[in-house]
Amino acid sequence: MYQAPLPEEYATLTKEEARERIRKAKETLGSRVVILGHHYQRDEIIEHADYRGDSFKLAKDANRHPEADYIVFCGVHFMAESADILTPDHQKVILPNLAAGCSMADMANLFQVRNCWKQLSELFPPESIVPVTYINSAANLKAFVGERGGTVCTSTNAPVAVEWALGQGERVLFFPDQHLGRNTGVKLGFDPYEDMVVWDPHRPLGGNTEEDLKKAKFILWKGHCSVHQRFTVEQIEKARKEHPGVKVIVHPECTYEVVQAADFNGSTEVIIRTVTEAEPGTTWAVGTEINLVQRLAKENPDKTVFCLDPMICPCSTMYRIHPSFLCWALENLVAGTPVNVIEVPPKVKHFAKTGLDRMLTLI
Ligand code: 13P
Ligand code: SF4
Repeated sequence: MYQAPLPEEYATLTKEEARERIRKAKETLGSRVVILGHHYQRDEIIEHADYRGDSFKLAKDANRHPEADYIVFCGVHFMAESADILTPDHQKVILPNLAAGCSMADMANLFQVRNCWKQLSELFPPESIVPVTYINSAANLKAFVGERGGTVCTSTNAPVAVEWALGQGERVLFFPDQHLGRNTGVKLGFDPYEDMVVWDPHRPLGGNTEEDLKKAKFILWKGHCSVHQRFTVEQIEKARKEHPGVKVIVHPECTYEVVQAADFNGSTEVIIRTVTEAEPGTTWAVGTEINLVQRLAKENPDKTVFCLDPMICPCSTMYRIHPSFLCWALENLVAGTPVNVIEVPPKVKHFAKTGLDRMLTLI
């Protein structure tokens, strides 16, 4: 989405000026505003968040304050859309920078998914295919699954959600992250090669034969996260060599090979909890976004915590929520001129909510 440049007054704020003005605007707004911050946000944003969490937790937190007029979502576009879908109509959801999208979410669109569904429906009865979308997807894809008896999932509840889906039909169409889909299938005991195929939206039948599709339990969309796909088995081997006894924990958006080579995997919330609750003196190599890893290291001075990838790897879209944008968004709320309001059209909202409500029960 297009984000107009910030007015000069905000673009030139110093770190301290932005911090003070954010604090003041938040104080003035009081209980009228709730600020949510995803774990990948920089420290200068997280310090202002009323709630921080992973996608699943923040989807729930969005609903905690029905009395608030505004929910300011410091995260990416699909998270703000989900908050809008899940909250009452009188609450406005604000995304401080409209350019904060998710490159993985952009790897599947409604046109492509409908086209895939049409091709699959010519091979199988549509009721035998259960669509599951990762929350990292546009609202109209959440509506697509909601309307067809499927569900939304996050990395927190993917195994429960996919197990549920397999109880509803014979096969799962999982989009847009092939890696989360594959890792989840493996957690449930399926074979990553025998039971799964990848659907390339740019090729007929997704690049598969009819035979392969008929055998598959999992049809995995060819999408990925560019941050998590950077982690490699070689990095894990190096960490183990250089830090004997190191524990490796990664996000399930990493490849199957990386997840297999790691000791643990889980959502950002699980990563934080696992390291925080670990024995003092332990060493942790973490495969996820750098803002989270650096904060985890700071908050756990009794442990050694480092990022698996020596080349710093921030999520560039999460990083677009700069304090100047937060300041601009909050001061506009104080002035009564809300900016960057995320509004999912009512027609899309209805079935997207079906998918998201189902997600929240599958835990
Ligand atoms: P979590 O739900 O684990 O926070 O993941 C969100 C995300 O975008 C990871 O890349
Ligand atoms: Fe999207 Fe990856 Fe960034 Fe998560 S880390 S928001 S999946 S691009």
